[in-house]
Amino acid sequence: MSESALPANPYGLKNDRFIRALLREPIDCTPIWIMRQAGRYLPEYRATRAKAGSFMDLCRSAELACEVTLQPLERFDLDAAILFSDILTIPDAMGLGLTFTTGEGPVFARPLRSRHAIEQLPIPDPEIELRYVMDAVGTIRKALDGRVPLIGFSGSPWTLATYMVEGGSTKEFAHIKGLMYSDPASAHLLLDKLSTAVTDYLNAQVRRGAQTLMIFDTWGGVLSPDKYREFSLAYMQKIVNGLIRTHEGARIPVILFTKGGGQWAVDMADTGADGIGVDWTADMSQIRQQVGHRIALQGNLDPSVLYAPDAVIEQEVARVLHTFGHGTGHVFNLGHGIHQHVNPDKVATLVNAVHRLSRPYHQA
Ligand code: CP3
Repeated sequence: MSESALPANPYGLKNDRFIRALLREPIDCTPIWIMRQAGRYLPEYRATRAKAGSFMDLCRSAELACEVTLQPLERFDLDAAILFSDILTIPDAMGLGLTFTTGEGPVFARPLRSRHAIEQLPIPDPEIELRYVMDAVGTIRKALDGRVPLIGFSGSPWTLATYMVEGGSTKEFAHIKGLMYSDPASAHLLLDKLSTAVTDYLNAQVRRGAQTLMIFDTWGGVLSPDKYREFSLAYMQKIVNGLIRTHEGARIPVILFTKGGGQWAVDMADTGADGIGVDWTADMSQIRQQVGHRIALQGNLDPSVLYAPDAVIEQEVARVLHTFGHGTGHVFNLGHGIHQHVNPDKVATLVNAVHRLSRPYHQA
């Protein structure tokens, strides 16, 4: 029985498997989409990115962002589209000055290093400073024309704070963890501001046409259990509480993804989200035992499987499908983003294997 009184597909979607799986309604086979499905492993993405100039220029053009969002759907039988943008648009809109340098990843010109800087941070208005993202959402939703649902997204407050305080990517988390342990009040002030900014941003995406929301907590897994609950999960909970959950007669499912967060699946399910993303270090059969039927699971193939021969990919797909088992409530995905050196033909093998091999799991 559906937990929502609303129909899963009031939009007249041509393919609603993804939404139905998230709402635990019956489906014919397991839906699949791929984190970073629009990205550098696709030659056509690299061509559009070159045309745009820089990665941020690509994000700032609604037409080009729409073009790259649709590219993987042209090649593969995917069951969802994801907005082409980045999680770091919010810190950029807060004035930190984001650039992406080849080889180095994201860099902020003005990382946050003082209480004063945190106090001064503005909360962006998504329809003003982040209007380019909202325009991309609207353009993509229209271009999709009901083909598959559109996923909107944001980073989690903890993950955004990590980049903002470090000034870019890190392996040690020295500054952000230093702040958390030595000045927890300032860390909480920052996370609280980010929760407001993320809630506003996601709700604006829903108003512009996003049909599912996903929160990427890429770095929650570097925390100890008590600190995860206090500095990451508590703020995702706050966001979930503030999100628009139904829009124009449709339920808007929310997915939380903490990379490395398999051990906290029950706590994540308790937030009231509709789905949890699971990476490949966790066993989905154990997680399903813990959370039961109250929440959908998304995952969890190791992205490196895509370097293997087709027969191995099919074997691993079969294994992941088996770990989830029978019935609805599974959205197939990689456990993290697709690598840039993967051969696109491998993605076709993966997508077709998921659809074909999952059918027996959906027969009564
Ligand atoms: O999934 C999709 O297809 C949608 C687009 C998307 C991008 N980034 C595009 C992108 C999404 C959902 C993200 C989320 C994102 N961005 C996360 C969370 C998910 C995760 O991977 O853990 C994080 C941590 C970021 C921050 C980020 N953006 C980094 C660290 C980098 C540089 C490293 C890298 O992988 O290149 C980016 C750049 C980025 N974001 C690229 C793409 C396609 C590559 C940029 C390029 O074209 O050069």
